[in-house]
Amino acid sequence: MTRSTEGSLPQFPAGFLIGSATAAYQIEGAANEDGRGPSIWDTFSRTPGRVVGGDTGDVADDHYHRLEQDLDLMSELGLQAYRFSISWPRIQPTGSGAVEPRGIDFYSRLADGLLARGITPIATLYHWDLPQALEDAGGWPARDTALRFADYAAVMGEALGDRVAVWTTLNEPWCSAYLGYGSGSHAPGRTDGAAALAANHHLNLAHGWALQRLRDAVTNHEAQYSITLNFTGLEAVDDTSEEAIERIDALAHRSFLDPLLHGRLNERLVRDTAVVTDWSFVHDGDLEDIQQPIDVLGVNYYYTTGVRMWDGRSERSVDDGHRAAAGSPWPGSEHVEFIPPAGERTAMGWGISPDGLEHLLVSLAQEFPDLRLMVTENGAAFDDVEVDGRVHDRQRVDYLARHFWAAERALARGADLRGYLVWSLLDNFEWGWGFGKRFGIVRVDYETQRRIVKDSGRWLAALIAAQSPGT
Ligand code: FCB
Repeated sequence: MTRSTEGSLPQFPAGFLIGSATAAYQIEGAANEDGRGPSIWDTFSRTPGRVVGGDTGDVADDHYHRLEQDLDLMSELGLQAYRFSISWPRIQPTGSGAVEPRGIDFYSRLADGLLARGITPIATLYHWDLPQALEDAGGWPARDTALRFADYAAVMGEALGDRVAVWTTLNEPWCSAYLGYGSGSHAPGRTDGAAALAANHHLNLAHGWALQRLRDAVTNHEAQYSITLNFTGLEAVDDTSEEAIERIDALAHRSFLDPLLHGRLNERLVRDTAVVTDWSFVHDGDLEDIQQPIDVLGVNYYYTTGVRMWDGRSERSVDDGHRAAAGSPWPGSEHVEFIPPAGERTAMGWGISPDGLEHLLVSLAQEFPDLRLMVTENGAAFDDVEVDGRVHDRQRVDYLARHFWAAERALARGADLRGYLVWSLLDNFEWGWGFGKRFGIVRVDYETQRRIVKDSGRWLAALIAAQSPGT
């Protein structure tokens, strides 16, 4: 029995923010409205075979037209913080130059609506929807894209810099680089390991340059700056696992943590990828530019997996938790095998390991003792059933409760954790999986756009309500 089923709820320190997260392309819809330009996800999702069921974000949750209603929903749940992303092609339809005022107006109304309801706005500048025009000019493997991103960051800093509490430059740049350009399971769907590694570097550079421009533009002196990375728990399964863990940790985590927070390239990463690239895209001075001070590190955590080296004899297990595609997201380490743990799984096939979250937060706190941490995403897809207007998603409640308890243990062990945002507020477009995977704490009926608060939404509301006043 887990503690969640006992009905008690964890208590967090004063000021700890409990809320929920979404991303623009996954919920907004209105893909061709108010001057929005096409993004790589429009192109990708409209290409047959790329997304399960041919789903696209054209309508999604129609959030763009239902902003007030969705804000009221957040208020009903008592959310203390809401993490949203800004669609770059709504702001700059071709990724550079002229700014679309109607795009700015939408996010301005969103920020105002949050503040009016006492909800802290946490904005992400980039959650994967690169303007298509920039992909046509080379995309993230091209250095110029990082410069364009810094310009866009300055535009947003000026527009919302008086209202946003936490600015996040990039969401999960690993996915942008390695799923977008390596495996090809995400937009733009390229399968070129060298391009993925160049994209990795240019995303880091984009973060560094954007932060400098943002800080200049933002007028709220209390604003905090961050980046959100995705972390996969890695476990040993045999005596080859140590090498496998080092390889995957280098590609998945050190590829970002080391440049961003230590100002250096990871040696292991450079060595393991030498067969793919010579890293000549790293210029003098880049690492200084990348290592900008941040206030908070955003942590996205979903699952833990076993890894080991492939022996070349048995069939290679490639289920690394991401949708299989033509290429590999692990350039230079394609011979690592992924062995998902036995036991419970979510509808994504991901193993459930709250201890992995505790371990991750504690180890990040040890490595970066001065950095605040925030869980910017955690949650689970399950095959929900709606009965008479209710969704009794017991498994999701259990998943969330166990992970919140894990966060509480990490706090007790000294991690400076400042908040926890559940993925996701609404069922939405789950990238290559389309609408079939539901992560929401609120169900969306895609036929009618009706919202139904699931039991997990009620549970989150109860958790927030149970915090001591002042939190
Ligand atoms: C993360 C993404 C988010 C959502 C969840 C399930 O990798 O940041 O948009 O798709 O996974």
